[in-house]
Amino acid sequence: MANQSPIPVVVNGAGGKMGREVIKAVAGAPDMTLLGAIDLNPELLNKDAGEVAGCGPLEVPITNQFEPMLAMAAQEKVLGVMVDFTHPKTVYDSVRSAIAYGVRPVVGTTGLSVEQIQDLAEFAEKASTGCLIIPNFSIGMVLLQQAAIQASKYFDHVEIIELHHNQKADAPSGTAIQTAQMLAEMGKSFNPPSVAEEEKLAGARGSVANEGIRIHSVRLPGLIAHQEVMFGAPGQIYTLRHDTSDRACYMPGVLLSIRKVTQLKSLVYGLEKIL
Ligand SMILES: NC(=O)c1ccc[n+]([C@@H]2O[C@H](COP(=O)([O-])OP(=O)(O)OC[C@H]3O[C@@H](n4cnc5c(N)ncnc54)[C@H](O)[C@@H]3O)[C@@H](O)[C@H]2O)c1
Repeated sequence: MANQSPIPVVVNGAGGKMGREVIKAVAGAPDMTLLGAIDLNPELLNKDAGEVAGCGPLEVPITNQFEPMLAMAAQEKVLGVMVDFTHPKTVYDSVRSAIAYGVRPVVGTTGLSVEQIQDLAEFAEKASTGCLIIPNFSIGMVLLQQAAIQASKYFDHVEIIELHHNQKADAPSGTAIQTAQMLAEMGKSFNPPSVAEEEKLAGARGSVANEGIRIHSVRLPGLIAHQEVMFGAPGQIYTLRHDTSDRACYMPGVLLSIRKVTQLKSLVYGLEKIL
C-alpha cells in the first residue's frame, strides 16, 4: 500500500452535509488524494474545499464543471473514483456520465428507482466499470438489517419507521426501501390483514413496500437519520433501532467503498456485499 499511488477522488456535492464529511475523511486517508470538489451552490464556487469542510486548506477549489472534472479524473494514472452525495433528481445522470468516462462511482445519494439502478447495472457491466450504490454506509445499519432478516423468519408482522431531518428530499429513505427488499427476499408475505382497514386520512398507515411491508416516514428538524424495524406477534413486540448522531459514522464505510470500487468490474448494491 505504501508504494502505491493514492486513489484520486472527486467529491460531487462537496459543499453539502455529507460532502464536507467526505472531504475531511479523504484528506485524512493516506492512500487517497482529493482531486476535485464539485458543487452547484454558487456561494461555494472557487472556495477551497478543505476550508469549506473545516479541515484547513487543501488547494482544491470547488467547481461547478462536472464533465471537465470527470475528464481530468479519467486521465489519472490510477483509476479515479467519484463519490456522489448530491440530489435524487441529478444522481442518475451523474453516475451514468462517470461510468462513461471510466471513473468509478461510489453513490451515497438515495432516491434512485429500481429501474434506474437496473439500467446503471447494465451500463456498468457493459463498460466493465465498478460502481457501488450504498443506501447506508454505517455498520450499525448493516447489523440491524441482518438482525431483521433473522427475526423475519419468526414474525409475520413487521413495520418500518424511518425518521430523518426535514431537509431530506426523498421519502421513504433508501435504507428503508432496501430493508424492506431484504425482508421480502425471505420469500414470504408479511402483515396478513386481520380486519378491513379504512384510512380516514390518506397515508395514515404508511406506504406498502414489497410483500406487504409498511414504511412510515417522519421528517423533523433536530433529527439526523434513524430507523426502527418493529416486529409484532401475539403478546410480544421486538424492536430494532439504529440512531445516527454524527455523520462521521458513515465515513469508514465511504473510505472502504472508495478502496473496493477500484477492484470491481460491475455494479454492486449495499455495504453488506463488500464488508
Ligand atoms: N448513503 C448514506 O449512508 C447516506 C447518508 C446520509 C445522506 N445520504 C444521502 O445523500 C444525499 C445528500 O445528503 P446531504 O445531507 O449531504 O444533502 P445536502 O443538501 O446537505 O448536500 C447536497 C449538496 O449537493 C449539491 N448538489 C445538488 N445537486 C448537485 C449536482 N447536480 N451537482 C453537484 N452538486 C449538487 C448541493 O448544492 C449541496 O451542497 C441525500 O440523497 C441523502 O439522502 C446518504
